[in-house]
Amino acid sequence: MNTILNAIFGLSSESGEAAHADIIEMLKADHRSVSDLFARYESLPASATREKRKILREIFAALEIHTKLEEELVYPEIEGAHEYVLEAREEHHVIDLIIKEIKKVRAMNEKADAKVKVLKEMIEHHVKEEEWEMLPRLPKDELEEIGAKVKVRKEELLGKEFPEKHMERAGVQPVEEMYGASESGERTAAKADVQQPVTKKSKSKRSRKNNSAA
Ligand SMILES: [Fe+2]
Repeated sequence: MNTILNAIFGLSSESGEAAHADIIEMLKADHRSVSDLFARYESLPASATREKRKILREIFAALEIHTKLEEELVYPEIEGAHEYVLEAREEHHVIDLIIKEIKKVRAMNEKADAKVKVLKEMIEHHVKEEEWEMLPRLPKDELEEIGAKVKVRKEELLGKEFPEKHMERAGVQPVEEMYGASESGERTAAKADVQQPVTKKSKSKRSRKNNSAA
């Protein structure tokens, strides 16, 4: 898991160093990683529900960190593109709403794939505007300085040594918990509200539902 997350977040598995210090290259590398994950998702057959859910967890975790870094440390540095920045923040909000919707999906069927496709297309649009209209407006002589700040914050958010801890904090359940011991456990997976932390309230709600369904 560490290797996968390090690859997604642009950290080397050995030292945790960012692959690039230039903020534009760092963000573009993040964009390509997420794009590759969507390509992997789309290449899977309908029956590969476990793998699809795993890829979605990776996409959600990567986006959560990436958008936070952009909003905190990158967007405020962009010069003369106030409207693009406002729009980008709204797009992050809409992306978040779509992710919340996908997290509620109980069966990885055609409808779920359609939601994932909408998310992918939304992100493609967002990335295009960022790379074409926003990132070129970052101050050229501060690209490495901003990159260094983002790298520190990224490691802080991710949890340099224990990325799984970050996943837990983000409410992302370990694969084993989501799917139980069975590889073919779509029923088990369907019962787990993917990425939704189990609260006392949701727990009792769920058990009421199960009782009435029985
Ligand atoms: Fe971005």
